Amino acid sequence: MNKKLRVVVTHRIPGSGISLLRKAGFHVVFGKNFKGAHAILSQLTDRIDGKVLDRAGRQLKIVANYAVGFDNIDIKDAGSRGVVVTNTPGVLTEAVAEHTIALMLALARRVVEADAFTRAKKYHGWKPDLFLSGTLVNKTLGILGLGRIGKAVAMRCHLGFGMNVLYHDSKRDEIFEAEYRARFESTDYILRHADVVSLHVPSLPGTRHLINGAAFKKMKKTAYLINTARGPVVDERALVQALRKKQIAGASLDVFEFEPKLAPGLEKLSNVVLTPHIASGTQACREEMSRLAAKNIIAVLRGRKPLTPVN
Ligand code: DGY
Repeated sequence: MNKKLRVVVTHRIPGSGISLLRKAGFHVVFGKNFKGAHAILSQLTDRIDGKVLDRAGRQLKIVANYAVGFDNIDIKDAGSRGVVVTNTPGVLTEAVAEHTIALMLALARRVVEADAFTRAKKYHGWKPDLFLSGTLVNKTLGILGLGRIGKAVAMRCHLGFGMNVLYHDSKRDEIFEAEYRARFESTDYILRHADVVSLHVPSLPGTRHLINGAAFKKMKKTAYLINTARGPVVDERALVQALRKKQIAGASLDVFEFEPKLAPGLEKLSNVVLTPHIASGTQACREEMSRLAAKNIIAVLRGRKPLTPVN
């Protein structure tokens, strides 16, 4: 009976999840022909709204997003139709935390600038003042959004670099505070006091442009901004201005407000490090995401509870 159930996978993904779906007996098709789908396996670049849900039809049971973020899906509309929406939390925490720290280090230690300089054959011998940089050791880290990824970043920065952790979230976590000597503070306080501000909030109407022109004015001139969360959390045009005016020392971004486009002028600045939304892009992590999305589909199409629902 499973054979009749149609799973539409919008783009190619690593094969382990696809194998699970096929082994479960589902008819897996790739592309955007949603008509008659019982399940959709979507990506963050797919807008799943009422139109897509209409096109799929009333038999649609689940949209399994291949990402932890799910701002590309109208979950309210899906919920009102009884369509389950799932994401892929947990399996990408370590990978994103690691990339976040890579971005912090690259910025603080001017790795990208120094690499370009060396490749351009400008290195003509050691000098004491060549590429003098900042450092992370004993600095203050401000985490905005203390979910799984925010915690994983804070923990590594505290244990690895002795950083003092300040955080803001909709709720306090006193156990985490005790374990990592972290302090709950307002966003305003964090912006004014942190040496590194790292963003880990979801993209919601309330977090859009959380970091805007006014926020940059509050930040230290020596501060770094790191965004591995979602682009719209930062007003990217205001960021370009802040970097030009040296209101902050630098920024590392893995996500962009108008992805894949960059705000005008961003790529010309030397005090930025830019990566193309790859924070979770380890081979192992992509396979885990694939399996988790598939397991959610299998559970729901077999009448069981999804593993990681968001609605
Ligand atoms: C996510 O999962 O939301 C990342 O942005 C991509 O893996």
